[in-house]
Amino acid sequence: MARHTDVAFRQLCKEQGADVMVTEFVQSEALIRDNVKAWEMVDFTETQRPMGVQIFGATPKSMAKAAQMVCERMRPDFLDLNFGCPAHKVIEQNAGSGLLRCTPLLYDLVKAVKDAIPDIPLTAKMRIGWDYSSIVAVEVATHLEKLGVEAIAVHGRTKEQGYSGEANWDWIAQVAHAVSIPVIGNGDIKDGPTAIRRQREAGVSGIMIGRAALANPWIFSEVKAALNGVNEQRPVVSAQQRWDAIIRLTELTLEVHASRLGSRDMGWMLNRLHPLTYGLPGSRKIRDQIRQCKRLDDLRQLRDAHLAELSTLRTC
Ligand SMILES: Cc1cc2nc3c(=O)[nH]c(=O)nc-3n(C[C@H](O)[C@H](O)[C@H](O)COP(=O)(O)O)c2cc1C
Repeated sequence: MARHTDVAFRQLCKEQGADVMVTEFVQSEALIRDNVKAWEMVDFTETQRPMGVQIFGATPKSMAKAAQMVCERMRPDFLDLNFGCPAHKVIEQNAGSGLLRCTPLLYDLVKAVKDAIPDIPLTAKMRIGWDYSSIVAVEVATHLEKLGVEAIAVHGRTKEQGYSGEANWDWIAQVAHAVSIPVIGNGDIKDGPTAIRRQREAGVSGIMIGRAALANPWIFSEVKAALNGVNEQRPVVSAQQRWDAIIRLTELTLEVHASRLGSRDMGWMLNRLHPLTYGLPGSRKIRDQIRQCKRLDDLRQLRDAHLAELSTLRTC
């Protein structure tokens, strides 16, 4: 997810059981221009494999070139194409979900990328259509299969919906029935029981989790346990676990961005840590206190004090 799932956050998700991960989307032209930030966004570590790199754009030639560059430099396990982003600045270039109202261009683009990287598995992430009067999910998915796309993730919303309303899993099910390649269902999975129900009802090969992971990276192990029939109960995440994740994400982020973060204090981290504080008793106060932290050690001291306070409260 753009601006959230950098290499540090993805490492946290991997450690919490994510099976397969994809980078945030990166513009093909930015990669071709050798934009440093763009290449930073597609970075990953060996332990994060299997990893996909997701690119977006609207020009077959530049998408093919960027795909080639990514595959040569990063050797991802698969390359993923974004046909889902609803952001104005993306669709105004006819990229992301903008391509769903321009399917001939979408197919040209897929063909160009496939020809450019014949040996790397190619996947796609799409919404179900531009709006409810033009649902193209099944048509696009069947065409992509013919073009050699090896798996498709479907977010069950239209571009017009943005992130409002609910994901429509009936359309995801229709795609899953229409093609023989793996279909990964996506939209509004927040816990294990919902994942099992959606997976069974829609007949999808996998479940993709987005926003829920920001506050709850433990969701990956929860969903996996549920899908494997090990545990269908929702596990309770303790304050200790939340703090461990907060510290771990801070460590990872400081490691990854050490050179750029030199002059910044920890206040910058708050946006990243914010979702992880949900569920901590007194979380609003904790966020204020995190804002005051200047160094990692301050954060560790805050954790120790908060956990000590909680255990005192429990014994009272
Ligand atoms: C802030 C934000 C950034 C996102 N960035 C991307 C992205 O770069 N690539 C992508 O395929 N989807 C992106 N998405 C969409 C999610 O991957 C996912 O399809 C959507 O949030 C629905 O799934 P969820 O209910 O599990 O979050 C983004 C979503 C959000 C909220």
